[in-house]
Amino acid sequence: MKCYVVESDQGIDAIQLRDRPEPEPGPGEVKIRMRAASLNYRDLGVASGGYLRNDTRPVIPLSDGAGEIVSVGSGVTCWQPGDRVSPIFVQDWLDGAPSDSILKSCLGGGVDGVLAEFIVVPATAVVAIPAELDFAAAATIPCAAVTAWHALFVSGNLQPGQTVLLLGTGGVSIFALQLAKMAGARTIITSSSDQKLELARKLGADLGVNYRNHPDWHQQVRTLTEGRGVDHVVEVGGPGTLERSLKSTAVGGSIHLIGVLDSPAAKVSPMLSVFNLLTVRGIYVGSRAMHQQTLNAIATNQIQPVIDRTFSFDQALDAYRYFASQQHVGKVVIEF
Ligand SMILES: NC(=O)c1ccc[n+]([C@@H]2O[C@H](COP(=O)([O-])OP(=O)(O)OC[C@H]3O[C@@H](n4cnc5c(N)ncnc54)[C@H](OP(=O)(O)O)[C@@H]3O)[C@@H](O)[C@H]2O)c1
Repeated sequence: MKCYVVESDQGIDAIQLRDRPEPEPGPGEVKIRMRAASLNYRDLGVASGGYLRNDTRPVIPLSDGAGEIVSVGSGVTCWQPGDRVSPIFVQDWLDGAPSDSILKSCLGGGVDGVLAEFIVVPATAVVAIPAELDFAAAATIPCAAVTAWHALFVSGNLQPGQTVLLLGTGGVSIFALQLAKMAGARTIITSSSDQKLELARKLGADLGVNYRNHPDWHQQVRTLTEGRGVDHVVEVGGPGTLERSLKSTAVGGSIHLIGVLDSPAAKVSPMLSVFNLLTVRGIYVGSRAMHQQTLNAIATNQIQPVIDRTFSFDQALDAYRYFASQQHVGKVVIEF
C-alpha cells in the first residue's frame, strides 16, 4: 500500500511517500480502507518536530480520517466489513479521565496515523459515521470538532444566551462557532481578514472583529458586550493572545486553553483571572465518548462541517502547503 511517512524534523517537503506491506488485523483489531483525511495545525508541528507529546519517528502522519472496515481480527463482533468508521484521536482514551500513558496513544504522532491507504487499529478505537456525513465530512471531526465540543459542553457547560469568543477562522474555531450557535449562544469571532469575517457571519457569527485592524481587540469585544465581556473564550492563540482573552472575559467566565498560534514565549500575568474569578482550563481533544457525543450533536442538528478545499491523496503535500498558508476557513481535506 501507499502511505506518507514523517521520517525527520525537516518539515512538509521532507515527508516521504512510501510503499509498505498492507497491515493485517490481529485479535481485537480492525483493518480500515481510508477514504478521507483532514489536516490540523498539530500536523505541521509533527512534520517539523518538537511537538510536545507524541513525537515518534518514523510515523505515518495525520490523526483525522474516515473509511470503511475491510476485515476484522478474531474476537471482533461489533464491526463488520463495509461499516463506515472513523478512528478516534487518542486511541486508548475511551471515557473518563485520561492518564499520561493513555495520552501517548495519539494517531499521527505517538502511533501511526491515517495518511495511508489502509490502517489497523483496535476495534474499541473507532466510532461509526452517521448517515448524515460523507467520508470527507466525517474526516474533519476527530480533532477539531471533538476539541470544540469538549471545551464548550464538557468543560464549559455552555448555556443558551451566553456569549462565546472565537479566535481566528481555523478548524477548531469554526466548529466551535457552529456548535455554539446550535446551543443558542451568541458568538463573536476574530480574524485577520474582513473577507473571512464575512464568511463567518454567513456561518452564523453574530459579530466579528478584525484583529489586524484592531490589535487591542479585547476593547472591541468589551464594547460589543456592553462592557461586560464574554462568558467563554475558545483560546487557540496561546501566550500571544491570552492576555487579551483574559481582558475580554466577564467576571466568572471561562477560558478554554487549546492551542498556540501566536508568540509562544510571551509572558502573561495570571492575576486578571484571580481578580475576575475566571476559570482557565486546558483542553486536549477528547475521549471516544466525547467523539460520539460530537457526532450525535452534528448529525441530529444537521451541521455540515465547513470544508474549505479538498485535495487528492497524490496531492497530500500540496494540501499541507495550502493549510500552512492559513488561507483556509474551517477544514482542509485529503480524499483517497
Ligand atoms: N488542545 C487540543 O486538543 C487542540 C486541538 C486542536 C487544535 N489545537 C490547537 O489549536 C490551534 C488551532 O488549531 P486549528 O487546527 O484549528 O488551526 P488552523 O485550522 O490551522 O487555524 C489557523 C487559523 O488561526 C487563525 N490565527 C492565526 N494566528 C492567530 C492569532 N494570532 N490570533 C487569532 N487567530 C489566529 C488564522 O485565522 P484568520 O486568518 O481568520 O485570522 C489561521 O488561519 C493550534 O494551536 C492547534 O495546535 C489544540
